[in-house]
Amino acid sequence: MSSDDNNHAQPADPGRRRMLIGATSAIGAVGVGFVAVPFIQSWMPSERAKAVGAPVEVDLRTIKPDQIIKVMWRGQTIGIMNRSKRLLDRLTGHDDFLLDPASAVVEQQPEFAVNVHRSIKPEWLVFNMHCTHLGCIPQVLAEPGSFAWEADWPGGFFCPCHKSKFDLSGRVFKGVPAPTNLIIPPYSFIDDNTVIIGVTGAA
Ligand code: FES
Repeated sequence: MSSDDNNHAQPADPGRRRMLIGATSAIGAVGVGFVAVPFIQSWMPSERAKAVGAPVEVDLRTIKPDQIIKVMWRGQTIGIMNRSKRLLDRLTGHDDFLLDPASAVVEQQPEFAVNVHRSIKPEWLVFNMHCTHLGCIPQVLAEPGSFAWEADWPGGFFCPCHKSKFDLSGRVFKGVPAPTNLIIPPYSFIDDNTVIIGVTGAA
């Protein structure tokens, strides 16, 4: 995904362009090493919708604390994680090990995500899951100790392709191939239970 994606937020047009994505099925749990998080086909936008890059609405009500789902937007895998306070508490204390702890690289997120949780609401992380090195999808290793090679692992994401590491806000660690934090796409909340990816200021 290029930096343009952060600049293409379209005004909401609920009559034509939105698709309500029902959250009705299994969700992959966060916190267990090497968890496979399945795509939910019923949540996928139509081929036509994907082709035009339509915004994607997601019902958040069935995403339990410490769980993550994946949806597709503009051909990219977007993760939506419900971070409990337990996970949010792990976002501090390791800034010295991060390449861009303050999200200073402006192309990597909208302005609303320039904060420690890199999100609008602290608990909801909405992020492009593709590694900023060569685009692999990192594994979810949210629990301390779930990274077998690193005793001080605070929880986060590990890219198995070339071993890049990101914290639970998608901030990249120093000394890995990935050059930047994971990208935060444009998004907003329609209401407390619904997020729309691809649109800012929808509420
Ligand atoms: S693609 Fe992730 S480290 Fe290379």
